[in-house]
Amino acid sequence: MIRFGPASSPPQVWAVEDTRLQLAWGNLPAGPVTARACEAEVVIDHRGGPGALDLDHLPADRAITVELLWDGGSTSLRTRTLPTPPGALLSRFATISDMHLGAVRWGALKTMRDTSGHPVPHPYRCAEAAIAEAVAWGAELLLIKGDTAQHESDRDFEELARLVDAFPDLPMMLIPGNHDVDGRSGTIPLTVGQRAVPFVRRVDHLDIAGARLVVADTTVPGRGWGTLARVCDGVVERAASADRPVFVAIHQQLQPTRLPRQWPIGIAAPASTDFLSRLDQLSRPVTVTSGHTHRNRSRTHGDVLVTEVGSTKDWPGVWAGYAVHEGGIRQVVRRIAAPAAISWTEYSRGALRGLWGMWSPGRLDERCISHAWVRDSSYASGQ
Ligand SMILES: [Fe+2]
Ligand SMILES: [Fe+2]
Repeated sequence: MIRFGPASSPPQVWAVEDTRLQLAWGNLPAGPVTARACEAEVVIDHRGGPGALDLDHLPADRAITVELLWDGGSTSLRTRTLPTPPGALLSRFATISDMHLGAVRWGALKTMRDTSGHPVPHPYRCAEAAIAEAVAWGAELLLIKGDTAQHESDRDFEELARLVDAFPDLPMMLIPGNHDVDGRSGTIPLTVGQRAVPFVRRVDHLDIAGARLVVADTTVPGRGWGTLARVCDGVVERAASADRPVFVAIHQQLQPTRLPRQWPIGIAAPASTDFLSRLDQLSRPVTVTSGHTHRNRSRTHGDVLVTEVGSTKDWPGVWAGYAVHEGGIRQVVRRIAAPAAISWTEYSRGALRGLWGMWSPGRLDERCISHAWVRDSSYASGQ
């Protein structure tokens, strides 16, 4: 009899898309694991412990019951697939954040360490697996939205360069987080890797099919909180001049309040809410996403979709995929499934005496969202 106590997460529908689910669990025995729903079935050879699998080719926007079977047990999981956003699929991209390359310890008292003996440090192997899985999902471009390094040190940025160089064919945009500019023992590089991917220190943008991607540096050197002072006008100008929907990526989260309701401190109101209101007044649909909190949440400000996505390196260990359609956008937050990554992130769930395991994930409907545009999207066919 398998028990799913505080030390391991129960089997669950972790991610839901329009035609696909990701199931994840903290501890199943070695052997075949089977998932069935509708006409779809998948069987994997599980090595034991934490794991994940995908169930594909499901009907969109439908209540689904998944049967999950393993050696000696089974469970039924109920969920609902997302509606496909209106119009043709135009592009797919992914985001990662809070890789904290160079980090060694985790937990409130920094007492949790990787004792697996794996030769690759856990932050690097989580980040590398996240990118590989995002590419396999179909991401054509990667936004890296800060806290790439644990500290502003040459050693940690060398790891970042190695990570960037490991994916030479994947276009990337890169912004810093507070850890990248903490002034610990080095200086943040201007560019990273052999391709010289620039660390954007103000505002930059790139137009892809169906969306203008805008990235902005909200960091304050030596501080954890963020600011829009240097970049607010630049982001709004680039959003206002876009001929298509706009997707904005920053590091620190936009607090709805002046005082933070949770740790860590992000970007305080009213600057945060004024920024969102300016974006909401534009004629184009706007999505804003951030990292920094290492948790998954979403909300709307007017018609602006606002999301936070968790870290690659600690529970639940995620990246986000975005499918851009003519008539909307779909976000999916997926757990990194590689065994060498999920074994660490499942262990890291125990931080804060297990509270981290409950705090960080957010609800499924905050992680996985099908968001139809409610305003002009006539850009769509004009690339
Ligand atoms: Fe972080
Ligand atoms: Fe951060």
